[in-house]
Amino acid sequence: MSDQTTTRLVIRQPDDWHVHLRDGAMLADVVPWTARQFARAIVMPNLSPPCATTGEVAEYRARILASLPQGSKFNPLMTLYLTDATDPDDLEAGFALGVLTAAKLYPAHATTNSAHGVTNVRAIYPVLDRMQQIGMPLLVHGEVTSGEVDIFDREAAFIERVLTPTLRDFPALRVVFEHITTKDAAEFVAAAPDNVAATITPHHLQINRNAIFAGGIRPHMYCLPIAKREVHQLALRKAATSGSPKFFLGTDTAPHEVKTKESACGCAGIFNAPFAMEVYAMVFEEEGALDRLEAFASENGPRFYGLPLNEARVVLERRECQVPERIAAGGGDVVPWMAGEVLPWSFVGIQPLG
Ligand code: DOR
Ligand code: ZN
Repeated sequence: MSDQTTTRLVIRQPDDWHVHLRDGAMLADVVPWTARQFARAIVMPNLSPPCATTGEVAEYRARILASLPQGSKFNPLMTLYLTDATDPDDLEAGFALGVLTAAKLYPAHATTNSAHGVTNVRAIYPVLDRMQQIGMPLLVHGEVTSGEVDIFDREAAFIERVLTPTLRDFPALRVVFEHITTKDAAEFVAAAPDNVAATITPHHLQINRNAIFAGGIRPHMYCLPIAKREVHQLALRKAATSGSPKFFLGTDTAPHEVKTKESACGCAGIFNAPFAMEVYAMVFEEEGALDRLEAFASENGPRFYGLPLNEARVVLERRECQVPERIAAGGGDVVPWMAGEVLPWSFVGIQPLG
């Protein structure tokens, strides 16, 4: 059990089940932040152009490995960007080779670099059928994109219009409902069978939509799916700290250069990799659930994906951690999540042996 007398946290090294590592100079500058704390990460394929074939994913994986700090053991787990034209044979071959860990469904135009996404889930039914047969996880960006649906209702509408019928048609498909933001999604996942799970970001645990407009518009709080009402934030905090194996860590770290965020049409995405574990530890402590952090961060994800648990340990200490205002990346600056704030937990390092 934890209380204010807990001064040191030593838990199994976590994995991040949802990251955007970008490409080129930005990749080289941001991947060390993820590799610093996490042993593995599920890497999103929404580059421009997207990684939509096994060959493109394999090349991207090689660029990630080439960008890692010397001696890093970080293992990027790759995903295929689904389009209306995805070839089930290419997907199966990529999964069999171990190049692909999962495939990602972006509804067309839902978010950053999703123009090539799926226009109608029925267009990929042959692909979903194959994924169900081979046990390959489907990762979903769960928002409908029709303009008539209010932005704050897009996740709930996705459950009703897309996810429920898809799971009815493919009841054994393994699905991760990514970066959930609503009570509706938390309840849906909790009530679903074991083949359905969800990731939860640090920022959706920390803020609700009021924070985006506190004293003025705050572009660094803007991401998709957008933060919802407080009732939803509280439901996410409850789900993450509930001990249920269906919920696990996925930061959705998504760096954008400061000038593209602070703009008349700012990009969606929050760069939270640098202090991810410090923030999750803070939230779990606020909920009186520090003893459940390890399951959420380090056990539930690998168990869902059928991967071994990490043997190394991550060490955090109760010591103030000052988050910088900016971090240099990609030839410019990126504003990290919690910029300028002081966090109660500090990352100490990784202990190699269990
Ligand atoms: O806020 C977001 N940023 N949500 C996404 O789904 C994509 C991501 C990005 O790639 O920037
Ligand atoms: Zn994402």
